[in-house]
Amino acid sequence: MTNSNLEELKNKVIELKKKRNAVILAHNYQLPEIQDIADFVGDSLGLSIEAQKADCKVIVFCGVYFMAETAKILSPQKTVLMPDPDAGCPLASMITVEDLLKMKAEHPNAKTICYVNSFAEIKAHCDYCCTSANALKMVESLPYDEFIFVPDRYLGSFVKNKTGKTIHLWKGFCPVHLKFIKEHIAEARAKYPGAKVMVHPECSEEIVAAADYALGTEAMLRHAKNSKDEKEYIIGTEESFIYRLATQVPDKKFYPLSKTGICPNMKKTTLEKVLWCLEDMKTEITVEESIMQKARLSIDRMLEIK
Ligand code: 13P
Ligand code: SF4
Repeated sequence: MTNSNLEELKNKVIELKKKRNAVILAHNYQLPEIQDIADFVGDSLGLSIEAQKADCKVIVFCGVYFMAETAKILSPQKTVLMPDPDAGCPLASMITVEDLLKMKAEHPNAKTICYVNSFAEIKAHCDYCCTSANALKMVESLPYDEFIFVPDRYLGSFVKNKTGKTIHLWKGFCPVHLKFIKEHIAEARAKYPGAKVMVHPECSEEIVAAADYALGTEAMLRHAKNSKDEKEYIIGTEESFIYRLATQVPDKKFYPLSKTGICPNMKKTTLEKVLWCLEDMKTEITVEESIMQKARLSIDRMLEIK
């Protein structure tokens, strides 16, 4: 697409968005052109907060399915649209309600926490929901010593190692973050000797151990903004986040940890699809009433811990 076509498309989206009284929410992993036309760009926690407080009739959610579903649960009166509803999260699909119920039966005294990267049905069966931004704080602050944590084994073990609490883990993982290997860190450190390595806690234990910081996306951004001495960073998460970092912190340099950090589902949302979605008012995301009510309890608890 030429630059003038891209600008034309962006302008069309912005115009139609106003007409529809819509707000566009985009995750940090969305393509740069999607981030450019969004009203709010952020991590899972920030997007949930925005979805709830946005003063609009329609939310166009540019991210993956569980995120749009969470937005719908938090704002049932708004129409939530996804430009491509096939944008799923493989991690969220790695646990079923049956799996969870079995785990709960095996550990009847444990409190259940699900990572927000899970379906509403799973959230409906959990006591608490968390994001990468508040998982550690949540487990630290709750007055319990035994938890079931689903579906991400790596975020769960990160929290387990940091808190020392008993945490029963499920075997889910993010296929994108698991593709980062130790050699990537060694190569990147050799290439950019002054740079600090920041990785997402969905990465494997050995990557987290080899990095300087393990943080959720928004915490990475905050850290880069606030640090006085550090000028360069190697980023171990989805590649499009580098665009957000570079836009928000223009005086520092950001390098991807490797070329493998691409979430194909996050890339399914394109500018054309955003335009069509606003034109046709499709595809609307709905959640069954009984699931919605139960899931809301664990999601509300997630929003209490920032
Ligand atoms: P954040 O909430 O840190 O943005 O992460 C969401 C996600 O899907 C990570 O892969
Ligand atoms: Fe899911 Fe991983 Fe993509 Fe995040 S990066 S949406 S966890 S597949």
